Amino acid sequence: MYYKFNFNALLPCGRRGDEFTLAASCVIRQLNIGDYEKVIELWLSVEGVSLSEADSKENIATFLKRNAGSSFIAEKDGEIIGAILCGNDGRRGYLHHLAVHSSYRNNGLGRILVEACLNKLREYGIKRCHLFVLPENQNGMNFWNHIGFWQRLDMHVFSKDV
Ligand SMILES: CC(C)(COP(=O)(O)OP(=O)(O)OC[C@H]1O[C@@H](n2cnc3c(N)ncnc32)[C@H](O)[C@@H]1OP(=O)(O)O)[C@@H](O)C(=O)NCCC(=O)NCCS
Repeated sequence: MYYKFNFNALLPCGRRGDEFTLAASCVIRQLNIGDYEKVIELWLSVEGVSLSEADSKENIATFLKRNAGSSFIAEKDGEIIGAILCGNDGRRGYLHHLAVHSSYRNNGLGRILVEACLNKLREYGIKRCHLFVLPENQNGMNFWNHIGFWQRLDMHVFSKDV
């Protein structure tokens, strides 16, 4: 699935003035395992995204297979400038590792990537979506709040190595 839009068409809507004037269009498309190296490069380059052994190529390939067509990237001139992982367990949806390259922020890309995932979850009949934010990532929390997610104060996350 492809979404095409042009940054210049978005700029007059008042998102970023003329700080960036981008002639070429940006494509939003499904993330596939062939994108792995470039996506890891993006994730490593942004603040607020924490990678672990769970993000090995093998694990991401398994994740993408189990959640076919649910994760997305933003691509411009062959470079990956935005990415997000999305999956569901049949009950709830989960978003991971949303990132937009620092040079392309405030153009609506983050929101579009999230919306693409939520649309996919709706197709699967999923009614609610969760995500995890590092406690020091206040910008990330502000973003999620701004686009309609609310912080859960009624529960904590527990984990165990298996
Ligand atoms: C968070 C992030 C993905 C946002 O991407 P982006 O492309 O700049 O966001 P958008 O342009 O789509 O913003 C959508 C809306 O959120 C607002 N917004 C963006 N960043 C925001 C922030 N840090 N705080 C509050 N609002 C924010 C925008 O103003 C816009 O508002 P509008 O639609 O009402 O005009 C990006 O800043 C990023 O990659 N951060 C580092 C990685 C990270 O923290 N990811 C989250 C991990 S949990």
